[in-house]
Amino acid sequence: MQNEQYRNLDSLGQAREMAEEHQLHEVQKQGYDWDERYKVKDLPWDTGLVAPELSEYYAALAPQEKPAAVLEVGCGTGTNAVWMAQQGAKVNATEIAPTALEQAVARAASLQVKVDFHLLDICQKDPVEAGSQDFVFDRGVYHVIPQESRPLFASKLHKALKPGGRWLCIAGSKDEARENPEVGPPQLSALELLSETEPFFELISLGRTYFVLPDGKKYLAWKALFQRRK
Ligand SMILES: C[S@@+](CC[C@H](N)C(=O)[O-])C[C@H]1O[C@@H](n2cnc3c(N)ncnc32)[C@H](O)[C@@H]1O
Repeated sequence: MQNEQYRNLDSLGQAREMAEEHQLHEVQKQGYDWDERYKVKDLPWDTGLVAPELSEYYAALAPQEKPAAVLEVGCGTGTNAVWMAQQGAKVNATEIAPTALEQAVARAASLQVKVDFHLLDICQKDPVEAGSQDFVFDRGVYHVIPQESRPLFASKLHKALKPGGRWLCIAGSKDEARENPEVGPPQLSALELLSETEPFFELISLGRTYFVLPDGKKYLAWKALFQRRK
């Protein structure tokens, strides 16, 4: 398994080379499915509210620590991207689903907020210049990436960030027993999350949070803050 290969690597350079190589392999095409979900409005994750983990992260920063350049991957309908731009960041936001991106563009325009939106598969293309971003935000995206592509995803975020740049990742947690694991966000164990990202990121903090959905359901999640390795 790709994941096992990464777990056993002790050389950061080797891990990065493998992630780049993996790009040559087929990365699962998810665009159609995701777009379909936006088209039929099957969007249990889309709260329309700023993610509390994001606003809490910002609130804990001193004014001079607020990120100037931000990348949001899988921005959905753009609530968090627009909010970060309103906090003064230059925001780049990506989506694989055109319908989501259209709504995100409309949201930014209606609020007269500037966000640079990019329609792309984050595992395939780089939305920003290498080493240009202070902060990456991902709510519910890492956990939907097929396991074999997650090292590539992590390598893309590593590439986008400045040395020492941070990635806040909100991902479903396997520590929650569910009657039907098919219902609710995908679930990762702490070991999966940390071993997959370890070649590219130092862990700053790992805590519990919840995806609180508009229908009132709550799902246990990880709130992981990573820092780019050099
Ligand atoms: C669970 S939704 C979360 C959306 C948004 N972050 C939110 O919290 O509302 C996952 C999002 O990731 C997007 N996505 C999935 N795979 C992607 C990829 N490879 N590149 C970019 N976006 C992707 C989907 O289109 C979807 O909008």
